[in-house]
Amino acid sequence: MPDAATAPAADPGDAVPAVRVRGLAKTYRGSKKFPPSEALKGIDLDIPKGSVFGLLGPNGAGKSTLINILAGLVNKTAGTASIWGIDIDRRPRQSRAAIGVVPQELNVDAFFTPRELLEFQAGLYGVPVRERITEELLAAVQLTDKAENYSRTLSGGMRRRLMVAKAMVHKPPVLVLDEPTAGVDVELRQQLWGQIRTLNRSGTTVLLTTHYLEEAQELCDRIAFINHGEVIACDTTEALLKRMDRKEVTILLGEPLGDLPPGLSAYDAELVPPRRLIVRYRPSRTRFRDLIDDVRESGLTIADLSTQESDLEDLFLELTGAPADTGKDSSESQESPSPPPAVAGR
Ligand SMILES: Nc1ncnc2c1ncn2[C@@H]1O[C@H](COP(=O)(O)OP(=O)(O)OP(=O)(O)O)[C@@H](O)[C@H]1O
Ligand SMILES: [Mg+2]
Repeated sequence: MPDAATAPAADPGDAVPAVRVRGLAKTYRGSKKFPPSEALKGIDLDIPKGSVFGLLGPNGAGKSTLINILAGLVNKTAGTASIWGIDIDRRPRQSRAAIGVVPQELNVDAFFTPRELLEFQAGLYGVPVRERITEELLAAVQLTDKAENYSRTLSGGMRRRLMVAKAMVHKPPVLVLDEPTAGVDVELRQQLWGQIRTLNRSGTTVLLTTHYLEEAQELCDRIAFINHGEVIACDTTEALLKRMDRKEVTILLGEPLGDLPPGLSAYDAELVPPRRLIVRYRPSRTRFRDLIDDVRESGLTIADLSTQESDLEDLFLELTGAPADTGKDSSESQESPSPPPAVAGR
């Protein structure tokens, strides 16, 4: 992203978080057909300035609800929220100006060209013509050569990039991306990750939701796991991964082995005949080197070995008891769809 699109750089000494949420609750009204739906059950969250913060959770966990409340698209039932120190209830216009949102549903205006769309959006936000950064944004999302095409002729990936540019026209210090890479191919995902990193390096605080644990692990310095409307874990990515404290090493033995040797009885070891030995251990208690020494001292020869670290997938399973991508299904919408993004200044 261009420097001109940067937000005020985060001051590490600045105690006010980019986003602060306290006791945030949302119950969607029910109808004759559907009971009310308690999407958020009192969430507390601090998103530090300058971070890339991941909101992770299965379908229906409440991620979009949280984001849409911050963006002023959904009314909360209880609690408080502030963006860049600005309370969303007391100063809604200013708080909305501090946030740019790339929604989960891509609603590209088909008959606008990318350049028109960015200009129009900047106009809605009241950005004076001389302060607009349309060309820089187009370049940053690699759409300069498509700037005059109708948006409906853009590919899905191009539309997604256009939406990122659209969210940045007013240079918000906080950018929110709801499932930025859902259903995009590997190459585009890498490109989007690159763009998110660049934006973050130039000072933008990024909040993203994702189902992809790999994405969170790769991009986010902090992660909140959310399930059934509650935060069930929130920490730095590193600390979350450390919490697992589990590793697995698979050893291909030089010769077939019938039984586990007694020298390995202290380990959680499993023999997969004829030549594969799997050992699970806690890195905080056992050094890898000692483990390998014990294997050798048991008279075994190692033909090959590979290790597997625990990842967020394991942690997610442990916390929720459900695989990352197969949580509770979103039920049907019970409230009328959210209105189009409210705009600062309106
Ligand atoms: N407009 C709405 N009307 C009624 N209920 C809703 C509405 N939007 C969401 N919900 C319900 O609120 C809960 C949380 O939904 P939300 O969309 O916030 O989840 P999510 O974590 O973003 O899920 P996904 O990963 O599928 O996008 C779900 O049970 C959902 O059915
Ligand atoms: Mg969602």
